Amino acid sequence: MSNAALDVVEFLLTTSVYSDDRTLDENDLPPSFRRVYWTGGVDDDSGDGDNSGTNRKPAGISRPLSVTTTTAREATDIDRPWEAIAELMFTERDEFSGTITLAQQEMAEEWFAERVDEDRLLENPTLAKYFERHDDYDFDVTHEEARERNRPIQADRVWIDGLLNQYFDEDDDEEMLDLVEVRAPEEVETSLDDLVLTDDQENELDKISKAIEHREYLANIGLREIGKLLFVGPPGTGKTSTAQALAQDMDLPFVEVKLSMITSQYLGETAKNVDKTFEVAKRLSPCILFIDEFDFVAKTRRSDEHAALKRAVNTLLKSIDNISLIEDDVLLIGATNHPDQLDDAAWRRFDEIINFPKPDRGMRADILDVITRTMDIEEFDPQLIAEVTQGLTGSDLRMVLREAVLEALTEDRTTLTQEDLLDAVEEFEERDTLKNMDMMGGDHDALVAGGDLGDAASDGGHSHDHDHSHDH
Ligand SMILES: Nc1ncnc2c1ncn2[C@@H]1O[C@H](COP(=O)(O)OP(=O)(O)OP(=O)(O)O)[C@@H](O)[C@H]1O
Ligand SMILES: [Mg+2]
Repeated sequence: MSNAALDVVEFLLTTSVYSDDRTLDENDLPPSFRRVYWTGGVDDDSGDGDNSGTNRKPAGISRPLSVTTTTAREATDIDRPWEAIAELMFTERDEFSGTITLAQQEMAEEWFAERVDEDRLLENPTLAKYFERHDDYDFDVTHEEARERNRPIQADRVWIDGLLNQYFDEDDDEEMLDLVEVRAPEEVETSLDDLVLTDDQENELDKISKAIEHREYLANIGLREIGKLLFVGPPGTGKTSTAQALAQDMDLPFVEVKLSMITSQYLGETAKNVDKTFEVAKRLSPCILFIDEFDFVAKTRRSDEHAALKRAVNTLLKSIDNISLIEDDVLLIGATNHPDQLDDAAWRRFDEIINFPKPDRGMRADILDVITRTMDIEEFDPQLIAEVTQGLTGSDLRMVLREAVLEALTEDRTTLTQEDLLDAVEEFEERDTLKNMDMMGGDHDALVAGGDLGDAASDGGHSHDHDHSHDH
């Protein structure tokens, strides 16, 4: 019997059990199943794309869950779901409506129980509960464990979209949507395995994972000043990637605020939009709220910017004070390249500062190992590359690798050599020198070459004095 049949029967059993047992909720359905029945998002069940904005129902899953060829295909990813189970005696299809049902549920249960293993059952809390309670079967699984393993609904894109649509109007809140971007953990591509972290970073991240796990305990003992992290370090050292990887690792939506977008907005709206951003985070909670370019805050407070902009920034600081991991289930992560520009008011808001230094030699070798995992490289010696790449960040190393790959492609090669990498490092360094020369040398050249400057200088007090004394 094919696996396809098992998949489809699992789907049929699950929908049937779920429909009958009203104590089950969406977190008892595997993500691929509940996605099919979740309503309240943009693309509502009717599927007629346009003006779906008017079609706002409260988000949720309504019973009974009926199965058709279409829903079964969507849930199981099997092209012809009916064909996969048509020959089983206990299945039935209504030609007219296309509905697929279990004509003999008990028989279906037996059939399924004979074929499923415990690992698989643990992926499906609805069936885990059913078989745990059923006297005829003795699987060693518990509903509780399956539920714990199952990804929470808050981590699904459909859930996030549904919620955003409920609270925000795409036209009115367009500016708002420039300011924040919400990503579902399933959409985050970086995982913690892809990142090379310092011991210090790992310890801090462990600490915060534990704190999240034991939120209730922390609330009970009155420890609330926790869950606001600031990532500090030069560009390209993995601050954004680490925050995203945390979201993926903990199955939390990732809400990113781009502070520099504040200035491009109609200023009267900014304070309101900052408020709304935090509201989004609270509604999506538990989630990670990531505020990049945090130095923007201090810069704005210092300069004589528009009063409305200062108001927006003060709103931001107040909102940060009012949000809490313990009470709102929002983990706040700020990031900055310019710690020197932060003022006390900004520092004070964070309870942990995590340093993102440029990687040392050992780390560089590890990063090279990670980013070349899927590549073919002859005589690859990451230690040696690490030695000649002092000062380069993870992001720089990625760029070096990209350069090497593209260069090899020009010779139609998809297998690289250590030599290719060394060449690419050299190339990168040339590029880097050019960049720096531009910054320092530019003004100097202008000074020497510009004839006007000479005249201007002779007007200055100092030169004048000098000329004067010379005359005498
Ligand atoms: N320690 C690291 N291990 C593995 N990859 C890294 C590391 N540091 C950086 N990278 C890679 O470099 C790229 C850029 O990293 P990222 O965007 O996270 O840097 P950042 O610190 O947020 O930079 P910026 O300050 O410019 O925003 C990513 O693709 C990331 O995978
Ligand atoms: Mg970044």
